[in-house]
Amino acid sequence: MRQEGHCHLVSYCHYLCGPFRKQLGKKVHIESYGCQMNLSDSEIVASILAREGYERAERPEEADLVLLNTCSIRDKAEQTVLNRLDGLTHLKRKNPEMKVGVLGCMAERMRADLLEKKQLVDLVVGPDAYRSLPGLLDEIGTGQKAVNVLLSRDETYADIAPVRLQTNGVTAFISIMRGCDNMCAFCVVPFTRGRERSREPITIVREARDLVRNAYREVTLLGQNVDSFHWSGADGRTTDFADLLAMVAEVDPLLRIRFSTSHPKDMTDKVLEVMAHHPNICSYIHLPVQSGSSAVLQRMNRGYDRDRYLDRIAAIRHFMPDAAISTDIITGFCGETEEDHQDTLSLMREVRYDMAYMFKYSERPRTLAARNYADDVPDDVKGRRLQEVIDLQMRHAADRNQLHVGKEQETLVEGVSKRSADHLFGRNTQNAVVILPKCNAGHADLRPGDLITARIRSATSGSLQGELVRIDHPAPIPKDTIHA
Ligand code: 5AD
Ligand code: SF4
Repeated sequence: MRQEGHCHLVSYCHYLCGPFRKQLGKKVHIESYGCQMNLSDSEIVASILAREGYERAERPEEADLVLLNTCSIRDKAEQTVLNRLDGLTHLKRKNPEMKVGVLGCMAERMRADLLEKKQLVDLVVGPDAYRSLPGLLDEIGTGQKAVNVLLSRDETYADIAPVRLQTNGVTAFISIMRGCDNMCAFCVVPFTRGRERSREPITIVREARDLVRNAYREVTLLGQNVDSFHWSGADGRTTDFADLLAMVAEVDPLLRIRFSTSHPKDMTDKVLEVMAHHPNICSYIHLPVQSGSSAVLQRMNRGYDRDRYLDRIAAIRHFMPDAAISTDIITGFCGETEEDHQDTLSLMREVRYDMAYMFKYSERPRTLAARNYADDVPDDVKGRRLQEVIDLQMRHAADRNQLHVGKEQETLVEGVSKRSADHLFGRNTQNAVVILPKCNAGHADLRPGDLITARIRSATSGSLQGELVRIDHPAPIPKDTIHA
């Protein structure tokens, strides 16, 4: 659904860096797997390589360098990348000069193993080592293999302006912190992304301003646990996540703000108050619960129980009665009984999530759970419980989406609908997808970037069908393009 081709930042950087180009005419193809943070990291990598003179290749066949930015969160995610590497073998045979690199969480977790087990891999670089890419590329240019998986306590790439990849020109991600200190028992992230560190707030605000200048209409602030964002300035002043949200919201009243991911143990009323106070902060919170059973939550080392989680849900409803809430749920974690599973279903009925990401537990090496607990729920039981969770969630999503029908809602148009070229899609503030006809009698054709009022005519569990009421703010023109 996202469109390619918004690459004026790349050419701008090439123009500036032209005389210093090392890799004249070389092309890089980057594929991102897993979470939004990985996509955001790929944008940093693209920026570092653009400075080295690399242009982007849409297809691996056209590239001198193919990079896979990888995910380790579940075994399936790793298998997908390993299969993709096998799929690239024939290209490497055709073009032995082509270099292949593995970036991100799998690079960190599997390290030299990857070089040994996958012949075609030349380069392995962990999430905190992207600044060393130019040197590593020099090394592999001489026929050697290269690895850097050092984790850092302070790397935030704050000074690197990302090259926006896969962009629709309307919505963008801004990384506000890296790593995670939480040690949830099931989670490999603290091992692959290292210690938590926050980025200097002013650099985040500048990035948001730049995006506004370039006609973007929405930013999503990214961190593994945004609620623990913390910055102490040289003057002793501190900035927490609520302060940061307010700073970014004040960049431009027409810039929508989203964020991910909140943590139930850390989400404060102050954050909710800031959200309720700023109309351009979207009324949507992703608050992963993982399980509805306090016993399971304790084994998961999540730092909250069922009551504390429900207290946070009540707080969201108190400050923002119309907010949408989504979650993550894991079925079949170590020792999960049928009763624990029923607790998850009953919590879902209590909250009635608008949306959920639902997973079977997948044991990850080195984690607290892998070291301390048996992965003792049989796979078919995990699967059956997952299906029950999915079925219930589908009903809740359909019911929740019905609540939008008949309302007039602010909607940001993002792109062309997957199903029909005559339709565009956008999102309302609650993050629900709204499908809209492109042509509307008496109005200009809708374009990505238009901020409109839509009337919701009908709903399914997956999306809303809307009609245009009025275009409140037509898509802006990028300032950099005007001056070019
Ligand atoms: N198995 C299954 N799901 C997991 N998640 C994280 N680790 C695992 C695992 N080992 C899920 C959690 C988390 C989301 C990003 O992925 O629900 O919130
Ligand atoms: Fe993993 Fe927990 Fe950190 Fe999220 S908060 S990245 S689930 S350890």
